[in-house]
Amino acid sequence: MRLAFIGIGNVGFALANNLQKKGHEIIIAHDDIKSESVIKAQQKNPSFGVLSVQEAIDRSDIVFLATPFKFNQEILKPLDFKNRILVDCTNPVGAGISHGLESRISGAEKVQEWAKNARVVKSFTIYGFENLENPVFPNYDVKPVMLIAGNDALAKEEVRLLNSDLGFETLDVGDLSLSLHLEHMTLLWVKMVRANGHHPNFTWAFLER
Ligand SMILES: NC(=O)c1ccc[n+]([C@@H]2O[C@H](COP(=O)([O-])OP(=O)(O)OC[C@H]3O[C@@H](n4cnc5c(N)ncnc54)[C@H](OP(=O)(O)O)[C@@H]3O)[C@@H](O)[C@H]2O)c1
Repeated sequence: MRLAFIGIGNVGFALANNLQKKGHEIIIAHDDIKSESVIKAQQKNPSFGVLSVQEAIDRSDIVFLATPFKFNQEILKPLDFKNRILVDCTNPVGAGISHGLESRISGAEKVQEWAKNARVVKSFTIYGFENLENPVFPNYDVKPVMLIAGNDALAKEEVRLLNSDLGFETLDVGDLSLSLHLEHMTLLWVKMVRANGHHPNFTWAFLER
């Protein structure tokens, strides 16, 4: 598939680089091709193409959003997603590692509101980028789980396939409003690791009976 990345920093690059190794074509979506993160990403993986954001959307099958949440409205408002899947990897984080929208609504629902004609699926947010760079845990028979949420079943199936390419098992938790709880799971992981000193190389697993 041809995948476009709006945001190619820690999260965007880790996902794009691993998905490229699994055979997907990557387009960086950025209106400034001289931006530091674009140059750095292309140096690390010269196979990545780069197009303006709207052009990248127009020419791709699935779009990833991996930008600081505070810029999302400004980035998304002028765009038309033309029924593309938009994978929301972003998290609204507020002061003291709190929910940036005071837990009134998920960031993913705001992304859906701002992204015209997008089918938004929340994924890849509940862990730090270290586990997106390397989701392999060779000492276990189970795969790490990636929790996703969204309103469109077909879009979630496409994201499940990408999760699977990356090495994650997918658990679909429900409609997009459930993203609020995924964003709280993120805050838990971030507090444990970035604030309380737990090492970053751990994920959750889904055990079912
Ligand atoms: N870091 C983690 O461990 C982690 C894990 C899961 C989810 N998240 C979430 O993922 C998102 C990205 O985090 P990150 O750590 O990857 O951030 P990052 O390393 O700072 O990268 C942000 C990317 O967004 C781009 N960007 C900013 N404004 C843009 C615009 N107007 N148009 C196009 N691109 C723009 C930046 O490009 P420039 O170089 O031009 O600024 C950069 O490529 C955040 O919402 C974060 O909460 C982070």
